[in-house]
Amino acid sequence: MNTKLALLLVALIALPAAVLCQQQTKVTAFRPGEIWPDENGQHINAHGGGVLRYGDTFYWFGEHKAENTSSALVGVTCYASEDLMNWRNCGVALSVTDQPGHDIERGCVLERPKVIYNKVTGKFCMWFHLELKGQGYNAARYGVAVADRPEGPYKFLYSQRANAGTWPIEFGKEQLSVIDTLNADNFREGWTPAWRKAVGEGLFLKRDFGAGQMSRDMTLYVDDDGKAYHIFSSEDNLTLHIAELTADYLHHTGRYTRVAPAGHNEAPAIFKHEGTYWMITSGCTGWDPNEARMFSAPSIWGPWTQHPNPCRGPKAELTFGGQSTFILAIEHLPLNIEHSVAEKKAESNYVQSSMVNVQYIFMADIWRPRHPIDARYIWLPIEFEDGKPVIRWRDEWK
Ligand code: GAL
Repeated sequence: MNTKLALLLVALIALPAAVLCQQQTKVTAFRPGEIWPDENGQHINAHGGGVLRYGDTFYWFGEHKAENTSSALVGVTCYASEDLMNWRNCGVALSVTDQPGHDIERGCVLERPKVIYNKVTGKFCMWFHLELKGQGYNAARYGVAVADRPEGPYKFLYSQRANAGTWPIEFGKEQLSVIDTLNADNFREGWTPAWRKAVGEGLFLKRDFGAGQMSRDMTLYVDDDGKAYHIFSSEDNLTLHIAELTADYLHHTGRYTRVAPAGHNEAPAIFKHEGTYWMITSGCTGWDPNEARMFSAPSIWGPWTQHPNPCRGPKAELTFGGQSTFILAIEHLPLNIEHSVAEKKAESNYVQSSMVNVQYIFMADIWRPRHPIDARYIWLPIEFEDGKPVIRWRDEWK
């Protein structure tokens, strides 16, 4: 056989395989709980994540999960997409380091990263939950990193506890005089009604006042006026805090409020619809799924009211086997970049053609602690019934 003929034969055999390969990795619908291949056909590795829209591109940031450990061996990964279904791997946005004793040393716990864009500084700001290597979940810190481009590389800035030496904005004379009377020695036994009442009144807030408040499961939210907030589980995961960020989105201002004191919420995800803030959280059962909780408020500062579980369908009482991580607003974009006319046009076409009636996507993780890399994603549209968000299970949707 001459060389030309041989090459032709090889091409004929390879062509259908290449077409097949492309077809295999083209995602045409959301399939909650299934393997979600990226453009290379690899299951997306971005857990506990969040999505930032910048221009016409969506950037999905999440925890890189390893085969056998939930500790961070790699760091925060980033994927990019124009249609939210097909994602290309942009690699590691924030890398852990091998420097011994460094806050983000390989083997630390680095969870629930979120990125927001600051239009004043032109920087991409990443916040995440950090537990120092070898210290279990005791550090309870947040970490901050910054980049000039959405996909990074992000430069680690610092990690610490939250709002040391500051009381929540709602703490006036009355609450402070109650706090004065709280003595941890009187509440040695946990989970009694008296203990829960004391936690609600600020037993742990007082304990951590000097060193700073604990900061674990978290999300970020940018409001329409450009102000940003860090929402996190604090006080031994018993109370959520919402803390205002400085204009550069790199620090807390010191203004913060408590949500559902002693309510034991984590995995907060938030969005605003027609002036009402909605927050979906989980209970605290580690990697095991539990029933989602929902809260609403007329202002980010509250008052926050609890509503019934918004999930509907099989395993609705277990958040379909998942745990909330983020709510992606398709129309009310949490970004402060100037859109060009062309971008605006593309955006409206996009919404009309692919996202009819979907304004918000609920994102959750199905954790697999024994095989973390195989954890799955549940993305479902948020609908409204009687003015309240509802999340209905769908095997598949577009
Ligand atoms: C979950 C939390 C996760 C992770 C895990 C560790 O409750 O939502 O982000 O921290 O606990 O056990």
